[in-house]
Amino acid sequence: MKGILLAGGSGTRLHPMTLAASKQLLPVYDKPMIYYPLSTLMLAGIRDIMIISTPDDLPQFRRLLGDGSEFGVRFTYREQPSPDGIAQAFLIAGDWLAGAPCALVLGDNLIFADHLGQLLQAAARRRQGATVFAYQVRDPERYGVVTFDESGRAVDLVEKPASPTSHWAVTGLYFYDSRVLDLAREIRPSARGELEITDLNRLYLQEGSLQVERLGRGCAWLDAGVPDALMQAGLFVQTIQSRQGMLVGSPSEVAFRMGFIDAAQLRATAARMHKTELGRMLHELAEGQHESPHAG
Ligand code: TTP
Repeated sequence: MKGILLAGGSGTRLHPMTLAASKQLLPVYDKPMIYYPLSTLMLAGIRDIMIISTPDDLPQFRRLLGDGSEFGVRFTYREQPSPDGIAQAFLIAGDWLAGAPCALVLGDNLIFADHLGQLLQAAARRRQGATVFAYQVRDPERYGVVTFDESGRAVDLVEKPASPTSHWAVTGLYFYDSRVLDLAREIRPSARGELEITDLNRLYLQEGSLQVERLGRGCAWLDAGVPDALMQAGLFVQTIQSRQGMLVGSPSEVAFRMGFIDAAQLRATAARMHKTELGRMLHELAEGQHESPHAG
């Protein structure tokens, strides 16, 4: 399975912070925002990753992330000339996908959960249909909203409804089978002129092949698209890392735990960051002093 990390957009809700810098490069505590969704894709076992961003910002991502060898993965970079919608990612990546199944993650989405690796790897193993994740929020009107029937089956999906019929928002992490490109080609721009990911998901829902996994109480989903959420995300990561001594959103850690890199490679990354707490924690991990029950 291949993965797309979508890190474009205009970030207008974070102005003036995003006037001269990409939203997905802003810090979330001690790491650039994009590290978090990147870690999520890697935790799903995905090593072939396309990073899509604006023509202005793409060079910065290349500078930050390189060819992926530091994390034992392979990055391909591609421009989205204008922010014409999330589902456009599949059209942009079409030839590169070459008929492979694909996961998509939004560059401003942070997901943190116990056993997340197992959940993601199960979604990545499904060969038919699509899998999305739903999370209960207080402000569903900001998101794609999914409604369930009494048996817990997803029956309806609406983008930013004025009067939401449930509190379940669809998160910015999606897994699709190999038909995704063909289905994305069927979508037409919405009233706001975007190729909507919700329209793509609705195609899967209509044919009965959309799996909606509900993320429960023990899980945190944050989209860092507005100042309060950005601050909350940073405080959340700081709290977990300082209290538990466990890293959140470190691609180096995930790469090591998933077996994408060995201890020597991790040690080299840690050495480059030796002046930081992050570097110290990665060093401990490489030396085997830092145990965690499972990847993620
Ligand atoms: P949004 O938060 O919907 O849009 P935005 O990032 O442009 O921000 P704002 O609403 O403040 O102007 O986008 C969600 C994510 O998807 C975000 O990581 C940016 C990304 N995105 C693209 O890369 N290309 C697109 O065409 C769209 C619509 C979003």
